[in-house]
Amino acid sequence: MDHKSDTENTPQKQDGGQSMWGGRFASGPSAIMQEINASIGFDKRLYRQDIAGSKAHAKMLASCGVISHEDYDAIVGGLDQVQEEIEAGKMVFDPALEDIHMHVESRLREIVGDAGARLHTGRSRNDQVATDFRLWTRDAIDALDAAMGKLLGAIVDQAEKHAAAVMPGFTHLQTAQPVTLGHHMMAYHDMLSRDRARLRDCRTRVNESPLGAAALAGTSFPIDRHMTASDLGFDRPMSNSLDAVSARDFALEFLSTLSISAVHLSRLADEIVLWASAAFRFLTLSDGFSTGSSIMPQKRNPDAAELIRAKVGRISGALQGLMMVMKGLPLAYSKDMQEDKEPVFQAVDDFELCIAAMTGMIEDLKPNTENMAAAAGQSFSTATDLADWLVRVLGLPFRDAHHVTGAVVKAAETLGVDLKDLPLEAMRTVEPRITVDVYDVLSVQASVSSRTSYGGTAPENVTKAVAVARAALK
Ligand code: ARG
Repeated sequence: MDHKSDTENTPQKQDGGQSMWGGRFASGPSAIMQEINASIGFDKRLYRQDIAGSKAHAKMLASCGVISHEDYDAIVGGLDQVQEEIEAGKMVFDPALEDIHMHVESRLREIVGDAGARLHTGRSRNDQVATDFRLWTRDAIDALDAAMGKLLGAIVDQAEKHAAAVMPGFTHLQTAQPVTLGHHMMAYHDMLSRDRARLRDCRTRVNESPLGAAALAGTSFPIDRHMTASDLGFDRPMSNSLDAVSARDFALEFLSTLSISAVHLSRLADEIVLWASAAFRFLTLSDGFSTGSSIMPQKRNPDAAELIRAKVGRISGALQGLMMVMKGLPLAYSKDMQEDKEPVFQAVDDFELCIAAMTGMIEDLKPNTENMAAAAGQSFSTATDLADWLVRVLGLPFRDAHHVTGAVVKAAETLGVDLKDLPLEAMRTVEPRITVDVYDVLSVQASVSSRTSYGGTAPENVTKAVAVARAALK
């Protein structure tokens, strides 16, 4: 890092910078003070929200008679110009002006003079930054909501295509019972739609306006907070000024919903990594979502899936980081809260990329259904079907049926065959009442087709679930 000497003070800026608050100061802050204080390096991402918030505030001030309509017109024209300049890359970002709020306001004052200096009436940077950040978070939620919709659509497409394709279902990563690939995909659909619902629910608490809470106590100007709230698309103004400027649980809640969803993405990503391995051979990743090895020419690596699996570390790290920033802070605003934005920006960037990469991988996914089906029939995966048959047809209590089945599995294991290939005689030495009908339930296809209980893996259930999901996604 290139620190200037911390005893070297920056001169008072004539226009903007310390003129925003430096009335009682004889000299400017030291270089180190400026470096630790400035947030412009990251909060410039809030420029659009900051300008929108300022326009709404100015409009309300004019409508309440706090500033003139001429001043309002000048402010709006000036803010439009500031926005154009920022978007054209013409704004010079200067750490002396600390943050995006001071940059916008200072440039506005350069453009429109006194009118610009009246904008900050009945407002503080404390309610301003909370407002901007909530607007930004709301926009992020809406963008992620749309991206998740696309991912869910891709998952449902695959589920529909493979509604009847059989694969081994696992517990403890040991073959347990056959399931359908469509059912497995729909499990992720259900998980991720809960994440999306959490995101939408979180939005209702994000979408409240702190604007007009001023520094912490409200203001003596006759402002109308309901007007600015509704102008900015907020559901309502926050009802307590101290809470309005110091609450960051909206960001914590947002980060926790992203963290939970990133955990879900990591599970799906991990299955893709496993399934693409030579040991499983359940799927082939497209060229677009594989990478090669610089030394082993035969390799096809699932890097995107691995990175999605890893990103949950950064995303949940962002949540932990902000939790610790907020812990023990007294009311109302403290500068600590300036540290709220980077974790949220980072988590949103990471999460957005994860969703996009996962969507691409799922769209391109080529399951190797033959290998899946072969694996589904191995490891005595229909043993439970045999036990259920003993209960249903012979009237055995389930615990006894479980025991008999165990002995039959042992016999099959000794002969080195699957259950469906075990001779009837071998089964009858264990339980003489077993008949040839038992083979009807021992095939993988019969097994999955029989699981029609609500939420079960039967292909007809998957098809129904897909239809319900499609209707909800519309
Ligand atoms: N850059 C600050 C932040 O992000 C803005 C609010 C500053 N308020 C203050 N009273 N210094 O939190």
